[in-house]
Amino acid sequence: MTEHTGRAPAAKPFLYVVVCAAGIAQDVGRLIAAAQERGWEVGVIATPQGLGFFDAEAVGARTGRPIRSAWRAPGEARPFPAPDAVAVAPATFNTVNKWAAGISDTLALGTLCEAYGLGVPIAVLPCVSDALAAHPAYRASLDRLRGMGVRFGDRYSGEPDADGRRAEFRWERVLDLLAART
Ligand SMILES: Cc1cc2nc3c(=O)[nH]c(=O)nc-3n(C[C@H](O)[C@H](O)[C@H](O)COP(=O)(O)O)c2cc1C
Repeated sequence: MTEHTGRAPAAKPFLYVVVCAAGIAQDVGRLIAAAQERGWEVGVIATPQGLGFFDAEAVGARTGRPIRSAWRAPGEARPFPAPDAVAVAPATFNTVNKWAAGISDTLALGTLCEAYGLGVPIAVLPCVSDALAAHPAYRASLDRLRGMGVRFGDRYSGEPDADGRRAEFRWERVLDLLAART
């Protein structure tokens, strides 16, 4: 409660960060910190494979909530509030294609499939190699998801340039995409 108004302060908007099994996921703490600085409360949902790609204990400590990856048991309370927005970073080839196809066999995919129906903004930073991105299914998935209003940042291939340097993964871009008016 605030001293002046006697009313409870408004709750912060709740951001789901969906983390997939790409190498860059080891730095996802940067996204959590940036989101919190921008006023989001954050809950992390990792794919089952993605869970092994970052320090879940450290990230959980930063968000103040356990990392979710498995479905809750029937009758168990929902551990997170409903999302106000969803960020998918990094997004793998596998998850992008399954999401576009409407497959919901993990909590992360179920959350993504449902987010469209909830009408909340969704933004994605794909981390997909040039070779995988050439697959026609990937292009079709992007078209379908874009058609659903999902916002995409530039694809990060993770591959070194001619000088052997890897581009920076611009974590904050996903927050900018969520903030943008459409
Ligand atoms: C070290 C390592 C790094 C990987 N990096 C990527 C990546 O950047 N992008 C990608 O699409 N897949 C990558 N993969 C493959 C995915 O982990 C694999 O397709 C996995 O099934 C994806 O699961 P998810 O989409 O449920 O997270 C990587 C695998 C390993 C072992």
